[in-house]
Amino acid sequence: MSYLSLKNINKIYPGAVQAVFDFNLEAEEGDFIVLVGPSGCGKSTVLRMIAGLEEISSGDMFLQDKRINDLSPADREVAMVFQDYALYGNMTVYQNIGFSLTIRGEDADRIHEKVLDVSKTVELRDYLNRYPKALSGGQRQRVAMGRSLAKQAKILLMDEPLSNLDAKLRQQTRMELAVLHHEWHSTTVYVTHDQIEAMTLADKIVVINEGRIQQIGSPNEIYNFPENIFTAAFVGMPPINLIKGQVEGETFTGFNNNKEPLFSCKVPREIVRHAGNYRQGGIVMGIRPESIRLLSGEGQKSDDQCLLNAPVETLELLGAEYNAGLNLGGFILTCRIPARQVIRHGQNLEVIFTVQSAHFFDEESGLRIRG
Ligand SMILES: Nc1ncnc2c1ncn2[C@@H]1O[C@H](COP(=O)(O)OP(=O)(O)OP(=O)(O)O)[C@@H](O)[C@H]1O
Ligand SMILES: [Mg+2]
Repeated sequence: MSYLSLKNINKIYPGAVQAVFDFNLEAEEGDFIVLVGPSGCGKSTVLRMIAGLEEISSGDMFLQDKRINDLSPADREVAMVFQDYALYGNMTVYQNIGFSLTIRGEDADRIHEKVLDVSKTVELRDYLNRYPKALSGGQRQRVAMGRSLAKQAKILLMDEPLSNLDAKLRQQTRMELAVLHHEWHSTTVYVTHDQIEAMTLADKIVVINEGRIQQIGSPNEIYNFPENIFTAAFVGMPPINLIKGQVEGETFTGFNNNKEPLFSCKVPREIVRHAGNYRQGGIVMGIRPESIRLLSGEGQKSDDQCLLNAPVETLELLGAEYNAGLNLGGFILTCRIPARQVIRHGQNLEVIFTVQSAHFFDEESGLRIRG
């Protein structure tokens, strides 16, 4: 069995609110697992069940082969970093970091050594005598991290630990966290609704929606091979373009909301095999904004490319690139275009993508269509 194992976990809150459905997760020692999903999808509930702060309604949870369902939080040997850090305001940084060791009754020399060691890691050596109220948000976050590291728990649990930081500090702390994990290899379960945090920190991402796992995979798998429409739409910014359509023979035709055809292109071979199911529609093409590029020079296209020409309806300049929304017969197709040249509202753009970079889903089930 894995280091941490969740088997068929359900959570029903009082009042018959089911927050988590049949949740299965295996984490190996040293893994950095990220639970990601929209607000209210059940991320904190899962984390709190691992911590022992929330009762498990049914299912089994194992840590190093030991069933921990009924163990108290203290007996589970987990450490948790909360969104608001929950530091002890009447204790210095030193005392906060050493807190778990103090209550465990470890001797003063050992605590001193450990606090110095950890405070070096989280770069708080010069702040050990400060109280939390005299620290910045980022420093408080590091105290909370230090306190958890000092505890040397079997699992580090973090619930949106960066969400109180401004954008710049957030990015910096995110990078520090990655370095920290690289050094300490603590088995970590990390909750966020920020897809960039998920992509950059995780060994394994667990995408959750409405209490149900949508997909578990490496960042690469989640981004490049989304198993369903939810995952495809949740990961990627700006979001993937989803175009409903039909397949006739080898040709996909995309429609706008009025069922008027927008464009046609050839589909990859693995989709042709399923064409019979989608003659009348019911297929969705997903194409990421970054997979679409501006056509330069002559409009040459090969068989597996799709060429589109449409006016710019929405335009955002993000510095190095534009997010341009092309009006394709009423469907707004978002493209990410390098800002090497000036683009204007209303301008006609010729763009191109290869069909191999498109994803195809069954509209009814939402599932990826495989070869
Ligand atoms: N104590 C409770 N009693 C009843 N329902 C609860 C309780 N705590 C959470 N819920 C419900 O369970 C669902 C999942 O909540 P949870 O806090 O796990 O979501 P989350 O994914 O962490 O969301 P967020 O990103 O907003 O923190 C929500 O619908 C929430 O309203
Ligand atoms: Mg939460």
